[in-house]
Amino acid sequence: MQKTRNDQRTKELESDIVGHYDGSELLTSIETGLATIGKSSATVTVEDLGPVDEFHVGGRAATTELCERLGVTHDDHILDVGCGIGGTTRFITELSGCEVTGVDLAPNYITIARLLTEWTGLTDRAGYEIASALDMPFEDSSFDKAVQLHVGMNIADKVALFREVHRVVRPGGRFGVYDIMRVTDGTIEFPVPWATDASMSFVEDLSTYGNALELAGFETAEIRNRRQFAVEFFGAMRANALAAGGPPPLGLHLILGKDASTKLANVIDAIDAGVIAPVEIICDKPEA
Ligand SMILES: C[S@@+](CC[C@H](N)C(=O)[O-])C[C@H]1O[C@@H](n2cnc3c(N)ncnc32)[C@H](O)[C@@H]1O
Repeated sequence: MQKTRNDQRTKELESDIVGHYDGSELLTSIETGLATIGKSSATVTVEDLGPVDEFHVGGRAATTELCERLGVTHDDHILDVGCGIGGTTRFITELSGCEVTGVDLAPNYITIARLLTEWTGLTDRAGYEIASALDMPFEDSSFDKAVQLHVGMNIADKVALFREVHRVVRPGGRFGVYDIMRVTDGTIEFPVPWATDASMSFVEDLSTYGNALELAGFETAEIRNRRQFAVEFFGAMRANALAAGGPPPLGLHLILGKDASTKLANVIDAIDAGVIAPVEIICDKPEA
């Protein structure tokens, strides 16, 4: 009975989260942005899309560093948990030539991810599934490595999340997490990029992540608090927008959608105040 109630609550929450990541006008705004920089669906590159399709603090620079630490190779099959519109998925496959599969709750995002992957000519190596990270449609040990960028803030049960990732990563595989975590007590004002209100936000501290990863069977290899990197990223974004008289044709504001400036201001304030920070964790699934 309790389980049924929890399952029902998870389904309601996932439906609220899909509503939050609306994405209904996103494709049109990306097409408009591309036209402004003189590009089209026929000429766009993975690099062009970087400012809009990497939906996390630090964008492509953060993904590049995570991949370096994860040690992505040409022979890997990588899982991108909560892939959004597939920016990280495409970047990894272009970087290394390996196969990458993205999974996300939001159907609108997956439709856009598939289209952008067609436009950039990567459909042979990058594929997508619509599913919850808590119940993924993959066999055990299907992947060599997994990444998760800014997804855990939407998932209450971190142990269940990491158990599911652990199930689909092979023994000897690696998992790279890059999430916003709580650093001190203090208020987070809503909306933020990942949540319209507190009901869909589950920002936890590093020790909660560490315990959940360990309970799931992972061994933590490396942890980096990326607060300073985040402060510099947002500082550069603000300076560029001031110099250009507004945001760039392709930028995070497009994927942030409704209330973009409030969502950005709230996350920047909470990082500046030291309440939250992006944190990177690299961990291993030990050999059986
Ligand atoms: C802030 S976005 C980050 C997207 C992507 N990882 C990136 O960095 O560009 C969070 C993503 O997590 C997805 N998400 C949230 N909860 C999820 C769940 N339970 N299962 C799968 N995806 C989920 C959302 O739909 C959204 O696309």
